[in-house]
Amino acid sequence: MGTTKLCLNGILLVSFLQCAALINKKYILSSVTCKIEDADPFDEAVKNNFERIEYKRCSTLQPLTWVAYNERSQYYQLHINWTGFRQYLRMDLDLTAPLTSSPRCCYMAVERLTEQNIGLGENCEQFSSGVQLPNSTIGFIVQCYAQGKRIYTNGHATVPEQQQVRERLKQWVNRRKGKQSALSVLLIGIDSVSRQQLMRAMPMTKQQLESSGWFELAGYNKVAANTLPNLLPLTTGYNRSSVMSLCDPREELGLKRCKFIWKLYQELGYVTAFGEDDTPINTFNLNMRGFRSVPVDYYLRPYLMAAEQWLDVKIGDSQTCLGFHHASEHVYEYALEFTRRYLNDSFFGFFWTNTHSHGGSISRTTVMDEYMREYLNRLRNYGILNRSIVFFLSDHGLRAGPTWQTPLGWLEDRLPFLYIWLPPHLQQSHPEFVQSLRVNRQRLTSPYDLYVTLKHILRIGSPNHLKDLLGDAVDCLSCQSLLLPVPINRTCADAGISDHWCACRSYYRYSTLSDRDYIMAQLLVQHVNSLYNNYHNSKFVSRCEPLTLVNITKTYLGRRHTADNPTISLHRIQVMMMPTFSTYEGTIWYNSSSQEMQVTGVSRIDKIKPNCHDEQFRIKICSCR
Ligand SMILES: *[C@@H]1O[C@H](CO)[C@@H](O)[C@H](O)[C@H]1NC(C)=O
Ligand SMILES: *[C@@H]1O[C@H](CO)[C@@H](O)[C@H](O)[C@H]1NC(C)=O
Ligand SMILES: *[C@@H]1O[C@H](CO)[C@@H](O)[C@H](O)[C@H]1NC(C)=O
Ligand SMILES: *[C@@H]1O[C@H](CO)[C@@H](O)[C@H](O)[C@H]1NC(C)=O
Ligand SMILES: *[C@@H]1O[C@H](CO)[C@@H](O)[C@H](O)[C@H]1NC(C)=O
Ligand SMILES: *[C@@H]1O[C@H](CO)[C@@H](O)[C@H](O)[C@H]1NC(C)=O
Ligand SMILES: *[C@@H]1O[C@H](CO)[C@@H](O)[C@H](O)[C@H]1NC(C)=O
Ligand SMILES: *[C@@H]1O[C@H](CO)[C@@H](O)[C@H](O)[C@H]1NC(C)=O
Repeated sequence: MGTTKLCLNGILLVSFLQCAALINKKYILSSVTCKIEDADPFDEAVKNNFERIEYKRCSTLQPLTWVAYNERSQYYQLHINWTGFRQYLRMDLDLTAPLTSSPRCCYMAVERLTEQNIGLGENCEQFSSGVQLPNSTIGFIVQCYAQGKRIYTNGHATVPEQQQVRERLKQWVNRRKGKQSALSVLLIGIDSVSRQQLMRAMPMTKQQLESSGWFELAGYNKVAANTLPNLLPLTTGYNRSSVMSLCDPREELGLKRCKFIWKLYQELGYVTAFGEDDTPINTFNLNMRGFRSVPVDYYLRPYLMAAEQWLDVKIGDSQTCLGFHHASEHVYEYALEFTRRYLNDSFFGFFWTNTHSHGGSISRTTVMDEYMREYLNRLRNYGILNRSIVFFLSDHGLRAGPTWQTPLGWLEDRLPFLYIWLPPHLQQSHPEFVQSLRVNRQRLTSPYDLYVTLKHILRIGSPNHLKDLLGDAVDCLSCQSLLLPVPINRTCADAGISDHWCACRSYYRYSTLSDRDYIMAQLLVQHVNSLYNNYHNSKFVSRCEPLTLVNITKTYLGRRHTADNPTISLHRIQVMMMPTFSTYEGTIWYNSSSQEMQVTGVSRIDKIKPNCHDEQFRIKICSCR
C-alpha cells in the first residue's frame, strides 16, 4: 500500500516494472525538491567497460639525481649518485669499448619567457654532487653524458626561498598577533572523476578517506559542461559568461583582471602555488591566453613544459610517463614539497591533474589508486593534515566513451566527488563546522559553495574588518559556505545549477511521440544554431550551413518532486541534426498552462565528439557553405 502510494505520488505514467525499479533505488538525498540517486557503480551497463590496470613503473632504472632543501643555507642542493651509473652505462654504451672518461653531468635552469614559451639557461651548467641551486627558478633539467652520448635525462622542481614571500608571511604574522594562526588551504583535484567512479576505480583511496575522518559531500553537483566553466565558479565566484565579459581569457591581459581566490589569499598574507599536468590542455590555457604574469608565488607550468619537452614521454593506453614518474606524480609531489616547505606558515595551494583520468576510459584511473591512498597517508604523516583544510575533488564525471552514453553516465557526468578535511584543532574549536559537514554530506552543493567556503576560511580567526571584504559568490548569491548547514529543501536554482546539469531529477524514457516533442526538437535545433551564430562574435556565421532536424532519437520526461509546480514539466530530448549527423541532448522546461517552452541547456553527445574549438569549429561543428 505504502509503495503503491509512493509510486503514484507525482509520477506520471509509469509502468509497473518501472515503478518496482524505482522503489528499489537508493538515494544520496531525498527531499521535496531534490532526489539524487545513489547508483551502483558496477551497474550491468558499465561493468564490461571496466577493468583494473596495474601500476607500472616508468623506468626499471633508479634515477641518479635528486634535490633536497638545505635548512641551514636555505638553498636547494642537487645530488648525484655516481655508483648508480653502471646501470646506465650498460644500457647505452658498447660494453666492449673501455670508458675513456667518467660521466659528466650538467643542469639547465628553466626560464619562463611567456605563458606559452620557456627557455633553458644559456648553457648546461656542469656540476658535482651537492651543488647549490639558484633560488631564481623552480625547475631544472639535468643531463649526463658519457663518451659523447647522452645517457641520462631527468628534471627536478623546487620550492626555493623567495625573499618577498618570506617578508609577506612575517608581516602578517605580526598583524595577526595574539590571534589564532591562519589556516592553510590545499586543493587537490583530479579531472573527470565522478563520485561513482571514485568508488569503482579507486576503492583503496575511498576506503582511506572514509576511515580517516574526511567529510564527503555526496550531493556535489557540477554547474557546467567541462573543466573551465566548473573551476571558474570555484575560483572566482563567477560563471563563464561573466568571466568572458569581465576578464576574457582569450585576451592577452584577460585573466589578469579576474579576481582569483588565490589572489585574495596572497593579499591576506598567504604564500600561493598552482600546478597542473598536461600543459597543452591546462584549464586556463586550452584555446586561451592563460596568465600574462605568473598568477601565484610558485607556478609549476614552466617547469612542466620543460619536462614535457625534455624528458622521455611515454603515452600508453593506461598511463602517461614523464621521465621516471607518472606525469601526474610530478604535480602531486610538487604539492607535497610546497606544503612541507611552508608547513609552519599560511599557504594556499591549488593542484590539478588530468593525465590519469581524462578521456573516455573508466579503467585508467585504477592505476593510481594505491599511489593516491599512500599520498593521503603522506599528507598525514608529514603533518600537513594537522594544519590545513584540504579539498580533494573533481570537476565533473566522464564526458566521453561508452559509459557516458548510459543512464548511469548521465548521472555521473553531473556528480564529481568531493571530500573535505578539517584539521583536528579546528574541529575542536568549531564543533559546529563538523556538525555542518556531517549534515551537508546529504545536501545539494555546488562549486559556488566551495568558493564561498574558501572565503569563509579566510575569515576564521582573522581581524573583523575582513567581513565586508569577503562577500558571496557573485553569480550565485544564494550559495553559501559548506561549513554552515545547507537547507534540505534546497533547489538546483538555489545552488546555481541549471536544470540541464541538475542531478536532482531522474527521468524516464518514452517512445510514443506527440506534436509537442517535434516542437521541442525544432526549438532545440534553433537553440543550437543560435549558439553557433553567436560563437566568436559571429565569426563563422556566413561560412556555416545551418543545422536542420533529421529525427528525434530519444525522449524523456522528468519525474516530479513533491514541491514542484504542477503546470511545469521538464523534458529531455535527443535529436540528430543535418548536415553533420550530430546528436544533441537538450533539457527543456515546459509550462503546460501557457505552452511556453525554454531550452535550459544542451550537450553534444556523439560517440566520437569532435574537438570543437576555434578554427576546427568550422569544419567539425558545421558544414562549410
Ligand atoms: C646509488 O645507486 C646504487 C645503484 O643503483 C644504489 O644501490 C644506491 O642505493 C644508490 N645510493 C643512493 C644514496 O641513492
Ligand atoms: C635569492 O637569494 C639572494 C641572496 O640571499 C637574494 O638576494 C635574492 O633576493 C633571492 N631571490 C629571490 C627570488 O628571493
Ligand atoms: C616547523 O616547526 C617545527 C617545530 O618548530 C620544526 O621542527 C620544523 O622544522 C618547521 N618546519 C618548517 C618547514 O619550517
Ligand atoms: C599532529 O599534531 C599532534 C598534536 O599537536 C601531534 O601530536 C602530532 O605529532 C602531529 N603529527 C605530525 C605528523 O606532525
Ligand atoms: C551568469 O551569471 C549572470 C549574472 O548572475 C546571469 O545573468 C547569467 O545568466 C549567467 N550565465 C549562465 C550561462 O549561467
Ligand atoms: C525551505 O524551507 C525553509 C524553511 O522551512 C523555507 O523558508 C523555504 O521557503 C523553503 N524553500 C523551498 C525552496 O522550498
Ligand atoms: C535517425 O536517422 C539516422 C540517420 O538517417 C538513422 O540512422 C537512425 O536510425 C534514425 N533514428 C531514428 C530513431 O529514427
Ligand atoms: C505558466 O503559465 C501561466 C499562464 O500563462 C502563468 O500564469 C504562470 O505564471 C506560468 N508559470 C511559470 C512558472 O512561469
